[in-house]
Amino acid sequence: MKNTVLVTGGAGFIGSHTAVELTNAGFGVVIVDDLSNSDMGAVEGVRKITGVEIPFEKADCNSREELEQVFKKYKFNSVIHFAASKAVGESVEKPLLYYRNNVGSFVNILSLMSEYGVSNIVFSSSATVYGQPDTLPATEQTPRKPATSPYGNTKQMCEDILRDSVAAYKGLKGIALRYFNPIGAHPSALIGELPKGVPNNLVPFITQTAAGIRKELSVFGDDYNTPDGSCLRDYIDVVDLAKAHVVAVTRMIENKGKAEYEIFNIGTGVPVSVLELVNTFQKVNDVKVPYKIVGRRAGDVEAVWADTKLANNELGWKAERTLDDTLASAWAWEKHIRNIK
Ligand code: NAD
Ligand code: WQD
Repeated sequence: MKNTVLVTGGAGFIGSHTAVELTNAGFGVVIVDDLSNSDMGAVEGVRKITGVEIPFEKADCNSREELEQVFKKYKFNSVIHFAASKAVGESVEKPLLYYRNNVGSFVNILSLMSEYGVSNIVFSSSATVYGQPDTLPATEQTPRKPATSPYGNTKQMCEDILRDSVAAYKGLKGIALRYFNPIGAHPSALIGELPKGVPNNLVPFITQTAAGIRKELSVFGDDYNTPDGSCLRDYIDVVDLAKAHVVAVTRMIENKGKAEYEIFNIGTGVPVSVLELVNTFQKVNDVKVPYKIVGRRAGDVEAVWADTKLANNELGWKAERTLDDTLASAWAWEKHIRNIK
């Protein structure tokens, strides 16, 4: 029988790319999304890329009743839970919205899984749980730092909820993937990142500046203790990241895990500075990105990148796309949505 995966938040940036990779790998997919941070264009893009009329249900994971209808209607043995609110700044302004949505939705998912006998879950965690690590690169054993935002706190809380649930409910298995900085778009340019309003993240700000929507990029700080003074991050291509979900689900279905609950870093293992990223974007795409150096952004860590050995060796997964290809795909997507030739 075909393995089917419920993809919550599947109309979003990472969820839509994962729906494509799951379908390409032969999985059945059901997408659930409340479209609070996305639209049906992504679902249509996924259907177009795969040629499969993937079912979509508009439902709020924070409503147990709405979510239960999905569990009643479809048969699936695994869940990938992307649905969450993700703006760090907004979470400081509206903490209860974040605790309710991110933690409440996750509790609903897990309790319905145990009620309906669904065994496997992948949870979208984040490198934010490491804060500024004392040693780099960050391994999965690197101690988590106290969260500096309600958003970051929800990721830590959900990791712990998953650990405790797996320990308590027989048959439940979970994998938390700690994403570093996901960027880029599908090579078809039919799906990609679609932030609402002014982008908080670096790459969408760069692509919108190149497209003339933003006047100039502000580079937040050039006085860090790094080779060029700007912050270092581990930028992971979204298609590579999507593929990590396919191997994580497969690992649980095939009972290949070393434990019922596992954590993996998903990154490239290569630190890239803000200025390096901007310059590479300009070079690869032959387009100008006006920028100025401004002061540091509150809450930013200086440097964080992944030790990816565990994912490489245990999952047999490795980031493959080059930064050049990823930044070309990000620009192709921006041009596609803005009708730029
Ligand atoms: P996204 O906003 O593009 O996707 C999330 C999707 O979930 C959206 O389509 C939104 O409409 C939906 N959603 C939100 N709340 C919902 C609810 N209650 N019920 C149903 N749908 C709901 O974000 P993304 O970048 O694709 O992130 C996916 C996941 O990965 C999130 O959990 C995020 O916290 C996590 N993550 C993202 C990053 C990043 O930089 N993009 C990094 C680390 C972790
Ligand atoms: C990257 C670098 C900025 C915008 C965030 C969340 C994290 C995770 C991923 C979800 C930093 C610099 C940025 C700009 C800039 N999300 N920058 N000018 O902050 O590493 O991580 O997204 O889990 O939790 O905090 O990503 O893309 O915002 O910034 O100079 O206009 O680019 O200072 O060094 P970040 P980012």
